[in-house]
Amino acid sequence: IPVASFDCVVFGATGDLTARKLLPALFYRFRDGQIPETSRIIGASRSELSLDAFHEHARDALKRFVPATDLAEDALERFLDHVDYVAVDGAGDSGWTDLVAKLDERPDQVRPYYLATSPDLYGSICRNLAAHGLVGEKSRVVLEKPIGKDLKSARAINDAVGEVFPESQIFRIDHYLGKETVQNLLSLRFANTIFERLWTSDVIDHVQITVAETVGVEGRAGYYDTSGAMRDMLQNHILQLLCLTAMESPLNLEANSVRDEKLKVLRALKPITTHDIQSVTVRGQYVAGAVDGKPVEGYLAELGHESRTETFVAMKVEIQSGRWAGVPFYLRTGKRLPQKLSEIVVQFRASPFSIFPEEAFGREPNRLVIRLQPQEGMKLEVMTKDPGPGGLRLRPTDLDISFEETFKQRYPDAYERLLMDVVRGNATLFMRRDEVEAAWAWADGVLKAWADRPEAPRPYPAGSWGPTAAIALIERDGRTWHEELR
Ligand code: BG6
Repeated sequence: IPVASFDCVVFGATGDLTARKLLPALFYRFRDGQIPETSRIIGASRSELSLDAFHEHARDALKRFVPATDLAEDALERFLDHVDYVAVDGAGDSGWTDLVAKLDERPDQVRPYYLATSPDLYGSICRNLAAHGLVGEKSRVVLEKPIGKDLKSARAINDAVGEVFPESQIFRIDHYLGKETVQNLLSLRFANTIFERLWTSDVIDHVQITVAETVGVEGRAGYYDTSGAMRDMLQNHILQLLCLTAMESPLNLEANSVRDEKLKVLRALKPITTHDIQSVTVRGQYVAGAVDGKPVEGYLAELGHESRTETFVAMKVEIQSGRWAGVPFYLRTGKRLPQKLSEIVVQFRASPFSIFPEEAFGREPNRLVIRLQPQEGMKLEVMTKDPGPGGLRLRPTDLDISFEETFKQRYPDAYERLLMDVVRGNATLFMRRDEVEAAWAWADGVLKAWADRPEAPRPYPAGSWGPTAAIALIERDGRTWHEELR
């Protein structure tokens, strides 16, 4: 279904995110007929570029990030007819009247302003938008992460943006919420009686959330080195996955109902203190190794200078609520791990009593694996009898749903869904101010505890599953990480 006609102004139009994610996402939505012909995508950045030069830039980006089979030449050129450009200084005065003139050509359009810039500019861009009369009922502002680097800076950004836009027009993006399987988590939990009844500490032993990447810092070393895995991935993407896994049923699917429940989870996270930091967290940094059989250099060589920034983090987290008391959540994420793999593993308890003899392995617990990427799917490991006339032996077998095979259709990128939600004004999959701040309040505690007990990150060879201390973290509790590869 086509969305309303819009003019989407992308600040940071020549940057990495625009090339890698935003232009491809808008291209796919256009190709599939969801973007009305009267819509425009207006690139905005400080560079004085002609429209032709920006089109060339956009063409290159699409050729790099959209598979050739999806990028028919005529569709690409028709898409570019909707792409415009204006040179604007987000932090200064130049270019704003040109932007005003361009937007005035179509005053009734929905107007998303996508801030794909450094967060330092969010406040000044918003103030400029307001000063030039560009904020109205149909405008919305989209903020990319990171929203700050701690609670204080997040509040300052939220205050500055909040002076210009009401909360209902602010869309804080966490692209993990736009991933199909993440939304499927809501369907799994709340549209099936079988799971929700088992979703308690009586039945669940623990939960693991892994977001593993094979890439290194990909030319973003400047940003990454000030951030690290904790701020780049854990404070946002992983905590959002944890929220959707752990939250109570929302009253309905409205944005605030869902966000109210996520917020309760964030507020119930048990603070990690200086006292327990070393026993419940592990920071790592990759050194030279091999990924996919190819040698890769270590983080410091990629960076070109000394650094104690972590490229891997593992931790054990507790949620202080009736439902989750005594059920640890083990979280881990890292760069240069053996495979790109994101999954949530719900490990059920072993049945308290077994009629099967010990040698039949009668007490293997069930496990539910929700795979976000690659090959989105879910599998439930259940105990079955080994076939054949021999003695009674049991083994875990998978009830396996591969979404790709079941639905046989292209899985849209998260940004496609989220950008269209912005135009529709649907904020369910975006973070509210209080959520972002609650996540920072908790993450600040971890960062402070690390600062109070400074330790160099533990080295791990690129292509391994992180420092051995991360394995020890879970094994101390008599549990193991779920790994497709070990
Ligand atoms: C981004 C991080 O938010 O998410 C990157 O800044 C990371 O460092 C990326 O690589 C991972 O996203 P995805 O969708 O590829 O899992």
